[in-house]
Amino acid sequence: MVEFTAGAALGEAGGKVLAVPVFSDRTWGPGAEAAADAIGSALDSEFDRVDFTGKLGQVAILPGSADSAFETYAFVGLGEEADSETIRQAAGWLARSVSRIDHVSTTLHMVDVEGAAKAFAEGFLLALYRFDKYRSEPQPSKVETMSFVGENVDEAKAAADAARPAVVGAMLTRDLINEPANAKSPETLAGVAAGVAEEHSLRIKVYEPDEFAAERFGALAGVAAGAHNPARMVELWYEPEDPQAFLALVGKGIVFDSGGLSLKPATAMEDMKTDMSGAAVVFGAIKAIATLGLPIKVLAITPITENMPGGNATRPGDVLVPRNGTSIEVLNTDAEGRLVLADGLSLAAEHQPDLIVDIATLTGACHVALGDKIAGLWSNDQDAAREVLKASARTGERFWQMPLPADYRKAMDSEIADIKNISGARHGGAIHAALFLEEYVGENRWVHLDIAGPARWTEEEHYQRKGGSGFGVRTLVALAEDLSRPVLA
Ligand code: BES
Ligand code: MN
Ligand code: ZN
Repeated sequence: MVEFTAGAALGEAGGKVLAVPVFSDRTWGPGAEAAADAIGSALDSEFDRVDFTGKLGQVAILPGSADSAFETYAFVGLGEEADSETIRQAAGWLARSVSRIDHVSTTLHMVDVEGAAKAFAEGFLLALYRFDKYRSEPQPSKVETMSFVGENVDEAKAAADAARPAVVGAMLTRDLINEPANAKSPETLAGVAAGVAEEHSLRIKVYEPDEFAAERFGALAGVAAGAHNPARMVELWYEPEDPQAFLALVGKGIVFDSGGLSLKPATAMEDMKTDMSGAAVVFGAIKAIATLGLPIKVLAITPITENMPGGNATRPGDVLVPRNGTSIEVLNTDAEGRLVLADGLSLAAEHQPDLIVDIATLTGACHVALGDKIAGLWSNDQDAAREVLKASARTGERFWQMPLPADYRKAMDSEIADIKNISGARHGGAIHAALFLEEYVGENRWVHLDIAGPARWTEEEHYQRKGGSGFGVRTLVALAEDLSRPVLA
């Protein structure tokens, strides 16, 4: 992976390519004027020729003059005004255009925005990600070093290095999501969790199907009943000395969602290997939190199974009893995420953490409501919701808070059990799913994140690649950072 270095002052630096920031209407950012001088008088006509105005998303690479310090100059558009997300995105666009060059230098860390170097590093590294393992001709990026030149280069290098753990976590998450379902059985994913545990000295407990009855994981067992590959419930513990808080993360781990007997149409199944994104995010986040050594206790819980229509599958009308005893009449086996989360949340609730956050590709309805790039957020506690929203504002991952209206709960009243797994109402599916989950969190503070849209990126843009996005990892890490700070009395 790319190494960051602290380079020379602007007058003394040289090399293959220098990337400099430019704002709208070709307004120079730090270092850009010197770069412009190095191109010479033809610059404006060159900019006209490639239609470069300084808009976010634009990158113009132009050769320097014969005696210039750098061979080429990359002018990177930042738009009207920069914030950490525009820097992250601009860095992503830059990475895409210099990915064949081994040594790159930049002054983008000098843009006057808090956390500029960190955001730059995140965007640059995330954009160079590829999932190439199944291609006969992989094309990895050629970038080896990214050198910060100009002012404050040591601070920039330190900030960039500090950004790496969350990026590495998000890349693990992307890898797991992109992996096809025939290569990620529940057993395999539990093995990945064991690898993370080994590497970061986490405590791990993996429950196998013969323990589900004794552990009362009746809902997970019910979803797993139609699948050939055996399910797993994974529990990971990160327990640093002197923790300032206790956070529980619960991630939906459906390695393939066929819908079960309430079978999905073929086209709706195409992306359903993505349905374990919540679990993958939780693995990426706890890995990053442990790498950073944050002083916060973290419990990660991931129920992992396929949702398949085998001969022993749960039938519409069956009743399942999850760990906390609140029984469920299953009327649609395709509403399986909330079932496995009922067991996962019940287990998390018993440990009475300061906060439970669950993350799941839970509902098509949330995807419909908020589109491809924004996740839904629900909470039973407004302070907790604000904490997560505050963390996400720094990461560029967008969440939108949705309501938990108590009077909607009765649409899930069952004739024979405590609750049914779909509502009688035609609309508000994502809200009903959230209200369902609330039944399993007890008295704990809880935030539910529905990433059905953004778990999978649908276009090539900035630091996102088509496919598993890792959306949620950096926000959960930022949240853990915030909760790690000792509260002043
Ligand atoms: N995994 C799906 C939700 C989903 C849909 C995620 C599209 C990403 C993209 C979930 O298990 C599901 O099937 N939900 C149903 C619930 C319904 C049966 C109440 C849905 O949203 O249609
Ligand atoms: Mn489903
Ligand atoms: Zn699902």
